[in-house]
Order: sequence, then structure tokens, then C-alpha cells
Amino acid sequence: MYPKKPPMGFNTWNTFGENISADMIKQTADAMVEKGLRDAGYEYLVIDDCWSERQRDPETDRIVPDPVKFPLGMKDVSDYVHEKGLKFGMYSCAGVRTCADYPGSFDHEYLDAKTFADYGADFLKYDYCYKPRHEYGPLLYRKMSMALRSSGRDILLSACNWGCDDVHKWIRSTGAGMYRSTGDICDNFVSFRDIFLSQLDNFVYSAPGCFNDIDMLTVGMYSRGNVGSTGCTDTEYKLQFSLWCMFAAPLMLGCDVRNINDVTLKLVTNKHLLRINQDEEGRPPFIAQYESDNYRNVYARVLSDNRLALLFTNFRDEPCRTWMPLENLGIPVNVGKGLRLFNALAGKDEGVRKESVYVDLDAHDCAVYLAEIVDA
Ligand code: GLA
Repeated sequence: MYPKKPPMGFNTWNTFGENISADMIKQTADAMVEKGLRDAGYEYLVIDDCWSERQRDPETDRIVPDPVKFPLGMKDVSDYVHEKGLKFGMYSCAGVRTCADYPGSFDHEYLDAKTFADYGADFLKYDYCYKPRHEYGPLLYRKMSMALRSSGRDILLSACNWGCDDVHKWIRSTGAGMYRSTGDICDNFVSFRDIFLSQLDNFVYSAPGCFNDIDMLTVGMYSRGNVGSTGCTDTEYKLQFSLWCMFAAPLMLGCDVRNINDVTLKLVTNKHLLRINQDEEGRPPFIAQYESDNYRNVYARVLSDNRLALLFTNFRDEPCRTWMPLENLGIPVNVGKGLRLFNALAGKDEGVRKESVYVDLDAHDCAVYLAEIVDA
């Protein structure tokens, strides 16, 4: 499965952890449709860890869904998700056990790929816990990729080895469609700031076919749930979502979408931000203005319609002025050109700037523009 654009959807882990069930998944599917998330592009509904029994079926050797959480089995849940016009995602692990100590797929890759295909899965998140020491990581991802490719279903492989073993150098060659490049996110500002900054040099290893996944979003969690932590402010969630969009990261919602509030819904369905995230050329951004601690950088990204996306960031704990000369974009002062700015978050035109752009930002705030090069 070759994703042309960063995959979008919802994953159970951030909010629900082990507290998952068929009812909760079906209600989430309903909410994704009713709240307009599906129509905005959030198509995958992914069940993360803790969905199975603790041991494989001794007779068939297959992984078996937990009969209390999923009394009618997985195909029933998958059918419901498909009927809603969504795609269905499952989870397993390259090691012998999953991270939460359920059966992993090590040495069972082809059997499990067939099981997931029988469920009607369209997506498989594939974790890295309990990997036998002597086993070669790239081979384990290659194995599951080949198992999925021979399963009879088109299943996107979402690798999750947290950036270990220089994953960005080999993961694309395995056939995976996205790959986790960092440790787990928690719902607080420092967590998403550090995850993002750790990947500044690695976004060039993200393109149509295989995208750098900086983890599921915590936007809208407000400290509730499995990775709840201290929570973020709405300003911080706006920054998180803008970073993920600007860097063409997969957008997997992690909040409880059944109770999503209006502020969060408006943010995650902002069509200008999603347009940037889903740009068909999938070019990486570059740093258009650099500060030594990376706390006030400006990023720019060339889009397929000849516009530029611009992201002004303030990771500092106090307000600041961010600044970028147009020269840094490749637009010198003496060529008679300027930038017409459209504020993507506010949804309004802000006129033409020549020579440079200044933006005043609150602590942990950002501004995103779609910019057109015009005569000026
Ligand atoms: C790892 C992954 C998480 C989640 C948990 C489940 O920590 O990185 O995203 O899937 O396992 O146990």
C-alpha cells in the first residue's frame, strides 16, 4: 500500500489504552462521521494494543480477540467501520509480545497477516517491544511487509520502532507506508516540542510512499486518558497541530472524538492546514529563519500550486517577535516581488509584505500562512 498523502485517522491508544471495546469503537466510528471528521479526511480507525486474549489459541495458533471487549469478534467491528465509509486498522508487534504484554507476531508473521486480512484490516501498526536480541530489525519489518503483501488485502504497514536503528535509512525499502521516529508522546507541551525538534533533520526522510510519523496527536485530550499527563492549552494544541500539518506528518487523532469540543473540531478540520498537510508533492519544509535554540524558527514549504506554506513558531515561555526576510525564501529585495499572505488559522487575507515578515506571537503560539509570490 503506497500512501500518496500522510495517512489520517484515529487511534485508540492515547485516550483509551487498554479500555477498548466493540461498543467504544462503533461509537467512535459514528462520531467520526457525524462530526465531519471522515469527510475532512480522517479515514482510518485504528485499534491499538490490548485487543486480544493474553495467549494464542492453542489449536490454531492464531491471536484471538478478547471475548469480553469484542464479543462478536473483529470482523463484526471491521464491517461496522467499513459500513460507515471508514477504513479499519489493527495493531501487532514485531517481537514475541506486544508492549502491553499480549501476543506479538514474531515468527507468526504470515499467519497473523492472514488473520488481519480475514478481519478486513486496511492498516497495521507494527510495534517493536520484546524483539529477540539477535534478530535484525529491518528483516522483521520486511517480513511483515511481505506477509501483508501476500495476504490478499491492501494493508498499510505503519511501522513503530520509535526511531531505533536509524530507521529512516531503511524503512522505506521495506514497503512500510509510515514509520514512528520517536518515543511515545504524552499530553503536555514539552513532550510534543521535544518530539518535533528531535526530527528536524529527519523530515527529508518523509515523502509520498512513506511518511515520518511523530506519533498520534494529543490535541483535544486536555489531560484526560491513557497518556493524559498535564494536558495542553488550546494555544499549545494549535501549535502541535500546525507542526504536524506543516511537516506532512500522519494525522492520527488521539482524543475521545465522541466528546470532541468545538475548538478542537474546528482546529483539526481547518481546511487550510489540512491542505498543507496533504499537499500532493509532499515536499519537506526548510528552516527559513533559524534561532540557535530552534525556539523561534520560521519554516517554509513549497506547495504544489506554487504557493508557500509558512509557519512562525514560538516555543519560548514568553511572547516574542518572530521575523523572516523574504531573501531567505529565495526572493531578493531587488526583483520586484512580495508575498500575499493568507492567514490559515484565522482564515483571512493579510495583504502583501515586501522585504520581510514580522509576526508577534504569545508564548507557545504560532502563525501559519499560505503565501503567494506577487509583483510588489
Ligand atoms: C508502544 C507504542 C505506542 C503504543 C503502545 C501500546 O509504546 O509506541 O504508540 O502502541 O506501545 O502498548
